[in-house]
Amino acid sequence: VGHIDDVQELRKSKPSIIPERFVRDMTERPTLATPMPCSTDIPTINFSKLVKGTKDEIKTEISQLAHASENWGFFQVVNHGIDLSILESIEKVAKEFFILPLEEKKKYALAPGTVQGYGQAFVLSEDQKLDWCNMFALGVVPNFIRSPMLWPTNPENFSESVEVYSTEVRKLCQNLLKYIAMSLGLNGDVFENMFGEAVQALRMNYYPPCPRPDLVLGLSPHSDGSALTVLQQGKGNSVGLQILKDDRWVPVKPIPNALVINIGDTIEVLTNGKYKSVEHRAVTHKEKDRLSIVTFYAPSYEIEVGPMAELVDENNPCKYRRYNHGEYSKHYVTNKLQGKKTLEFAR
Ligand code: SIN
Ligand code: FE2
Repeated sequence: VGHIDDVQELRKSKPSIIPERFVRDMTERPTLATPMPCSTDIPTINFSKLVKGTKDEIKTEISQLAHASENWGFFQVVNHGIDLSILESIEKVAKEFFILPLEEKKKYALAPGTVQGYGQAFVLSEDQKLDWCNMFALGVVPNFIRSPMLWPTNPENFSESVEVYSTEVRKLCQNLLKYIAMSLGLNGDVFENMFGEAVQALRMNYYPPCPRPDLVLGLSPHSDGSALTVLQQGKGNSVGLQILKDDRWVPVKPIPNALVINIGDTIEVLTNGKYKSVEHRAVTHKEKDRLSIVTFYAPSYEIEVGPMAELVDENNPCKYRRYNHGEYSKHYVTNKLQGKKTLEFAR
């Protein structure tokens, strides 16, 4: 059968039928009908207005940020200030990595039960359906979460690109969390002060074209276990990311050079459910491949997470328990991706 679990190899073998492990149960299959004409796009935030707008512009942008975080859990950030060359570089090395021969990529193979390296994480049993995706993940900050053996030396500038990119995205996360705090009527530095040395990880997802996109999922539905997630979509790629909004899967249409941001489970808990960690998934395309580069930003493992006192009152009774973020993180990575199920840990 060969490398049936490696989707790129599988595709190369031009299978006449999709292997059973990728075929979703009826209820999980994506409907690929074109979205409703009335469906709206996820909100857009103009970051440069937040940073250097007039007083009125800042006010407007902050209230849009509040609206987006409360009602969508997702938004696209334009004018984020990260140099285009940095976005292009990470995309280039990611592509170069994924097209390497399997033998080469296997040098960085994810060990069973771990989440860093090349391969599919979150696979826990033989009968679990697989995603139509190849993944590569790395822990970036703090230093102790790094597995230096897993940092590719091919392409040559891979690691350097990851360092430069991660530094920029980290600053963006810190700034966004500042504005998110302000949008809640809190001091801009509450999250920064609470998080300690925030944990940052990077995951690259490569979705080869699929002859039967109606039968498979690129990525199973899930919410993110992070505080904030930053997603870069490859240039000229198919539309693949969908978010669950009012019981409908809404596609996220890429805006060139914009970054997609979503609220993760930690912010949902900290805000006592005011800001939502929204379920999302990826679908595949018959002819086009797709690449996404995802950064997860989360509190340091020793941090206690629970609804903030400022956001709990008679009208908003406490919805989540307090827990240790390291334990949540462990719970998240040792379970399969399954909608918002992992957040039940906090109930
Ligand atoms: C993700 O949720 O981690 C990535 C989804 C995507 O590829 O857009
Ligand atoms: Fe995600």
